[in-house]
Amino acid sequence: MGHMNDNDVRAGQARPSIARTYDYLLGGRDHYVIDEEFGRYFEQVLTGSEQIAVSNRRALERAVRALAHAGVDQIIDLGCGLPAKENVHQIARQHLPQTRVVYVDNDPIVISHGQAMLAVDEDVAVVQADVREPEVIREHPEVARLITFDRPVGLLFGAVLGFIEEDDDPVGIVRYWAEVIAPGSFVYVSCFRAGDNRRTALVQEQVRKVLGRGGWRSAEVIASMFDGLELVGPGVIPCVQWQPDGGAGPEPTDWERLIVSGLARKN
Ligand SMILES: C[S@@+](CC[C@H](N)C(=O)[O-])C[C@H]1O[C@@H](n2cnc3c(N)ncnc32)[C@H](O)[C@@H]1O
Repeated sequence: MGHMNDNDVRAGQARPSIARTYDYLLGGRDHYVIDEEFGRYFEQVLTGSEQIAVSNRRALERAVRALAHAGVDQIIDLGCGLPAKENVHQIARQHLPQTRVVYVDNDPIVISHGQAMLAVDEDVAVVQADVREPEVIREHPEVARLITFDRPVGLLFGAVLGFIEEDDDPVGIVRYWAEVIAPGSFVYVSCFRAGDNRRTALVQEQVRKVLGRGGWRSAEVIASMFDGLELVGPGVIPCVQWQPDGGAGPEPTDWERLIVSGLARKN
């Protein structure tokens, strides 16, 4: 992996990271052996749970297409992750070539790879910031340069709020953004939703133990993230089923029930 100094590399290899493990599970190449080993645990021991990552990503891609079809041409991708096969600006621009995207993540590896691979022109920026500090992000010079808050904007929270501890108020973070965006804007959230079987508990235990954080949220807490907004499509349902037009995809496995998504509009 290039673009990083020795300290970043040493720190990065000490334990698996969220972004790199996710990259492994999506079939990417930007991870270390330690992330691969953790990813293999999901594939080989909790077999089927790796689909949590895949179904999450596919739903996010559908959401981005839906934003483009709704005419939203500015997007902030919060907790964007490492460059993937299809990235938000590429998907959106298939329909709206003028789309501007700000990618935000707090992981230095995501930033170095993102700046090398995603910041392809002056209408895409990759910003290192913490989702727990929405005001800092809102006022970041790159956000100010690319995003016009009196026009509709699309906000993506793809599988990031589950990594924000309750004390850091993930619901309040969404609410902050819901207040500052213009009518006609959209908020997309995908989040781990608590199930009621032991295997769910096992995934959560492992994620917390190995990655250091990560929590499954109740359906009520996830619903409250959309307070004051109007859910569109099918509401909050498992990512694998979620279709922006309301149609339902395949029946989820027990694992796939553990990640849900919703898209809401600000009226
Ligand atoms: C599971 S990945 C999801 C990537 C992408 N959003 C998606 O849904 O395909 C979660 C990402 O959130 C980032 N993340 C976690 N906590 C964060 C925080 N407090 N601030 C910014 N990024 C964060 C991680 O570094 C990781 O890249």
